[in-house]
Amino acid sequence: MAHAPCFASDNYAGVHPRVMAALAEANHGPAKAYGDDDLTRAARLRFKEVLGESAEAFFVFLGTAANVLALQAMTKPHHAVLCAATAHINVDECGAPERHLGAKLMHVDTPDGKLTPALLEPFLLHLGNEHHNQPRAVSIAQATELGTLYSLAEIRALADFAHANGLLLHMDGARLGNAAAALGCEFRAMTSDAGVDALSFGGTKNGLMFGEAVVFFRPELAADFPFIRKQGMQLCSKMRFIAAQFLALLEGDLWRENARNANLMARLLAEKLADAPGVRIVQTPQTNAVFAALKPQVIESLQKRFAFYTWDYATNVVRFMTSFATTEAEVEAFALAVRQEAGAAE
Ligand SMILES: Cc1ncc(COP(=O)(O)O)c(C=O)c1O
Repeated sequence: MAHAPCFASDNYAGVHPRVMAALAEANHGPAKAYGDDDLTRAARLRFKEVLGESAEAFFVFLGTAANVLALQAMTKPHHAVLCAATAHINVDECGAPERHLGAKLMHVDTPDGKLTPALLEPFLLHLGNEHHNQPRAVSIAQATELGTLYSLAEIRALADFAHANGLLLHMDGARLGNAAAALGCEFRAMTSDAGVDALSFGGTKNGLMFGEAVVFFRPELAADFPFIRKQGMQLCSKMRFIAAQFLALLEGDLWRENARNANLMARLLAEKLADAPGVRIVQTPQTNAVFAALKPQVIESLQKRFAFYTWDYATNVVRFMTSFATTEAEVEAFALAVRQEAGAAE
């Protein structure tokens, strides 16, 4: 092991070799800029094959931008976006959604990072009342920031609820691959087939160097998006290099291989820590995050040796995140270190 095992985030991982090879392969001679090239055309078509004919994919650099610009296409400044209190758009985007949309984020407390129609219902009380921001979009993350998953039926129920009330459903799929691998389903089952209207399709956390896609399943949302993306400073001139990465990720199910490894390593880590004195696994990992409660001095000492984040300072819960690149040897070495430190502090 040439480096200390890293459990900070799936975006600490490097680039998958097949993605790197695709980047090198795309690096031959000139090509038309701003997405008017063969690779971008092929990748956009590939998204239609994967997500259904209605899918209109647009490439951007960042997950935050994918979320903000997707929501911008769905809302006006007097609108509101309903999301979980723990949502990335609510707590990890430095207010970018509010700044760029003008709309209000209304955040909903949840036990597990997941919205339900029952949790949303009270937020619709003032629909039609000009004194209140008008809920226009529901945004969910699949997988959630807490590593939990919506079932297909739960997504469908949210989509039906949103549509019945004149709202649209956005999905933050920064970890969509992890979710699909965990549920054993295809992407479209969780998205277009489940009633999702707009999707932020993650690539960076599943092996790309950089690159996300905003995907719309309604033509009226896609219509103005080229302008929204350019004004939002996410129109990449050398777009072929994002497209080439997505083509590699979606070829031969590389995405599933990568996501499966990440999920499996999280499960393995949780298993190896399950009976460790001084360690409490907060919830069984469903995807590629393990949340554990440790004593503060154990956290401090481990963080001197390994990269991982404290998730909740009040409860001393930390997050261990695995990626496509995490190996069994890394999990074993890290689990051993956690067991030793936590055991010694008992
Ligand atoms: C749930 C979720 N959405 C979106 C993002 C996108 O982040 P970035 O803008 O860093 O690509 C992240 C990254 O941590 C995330 O965890």
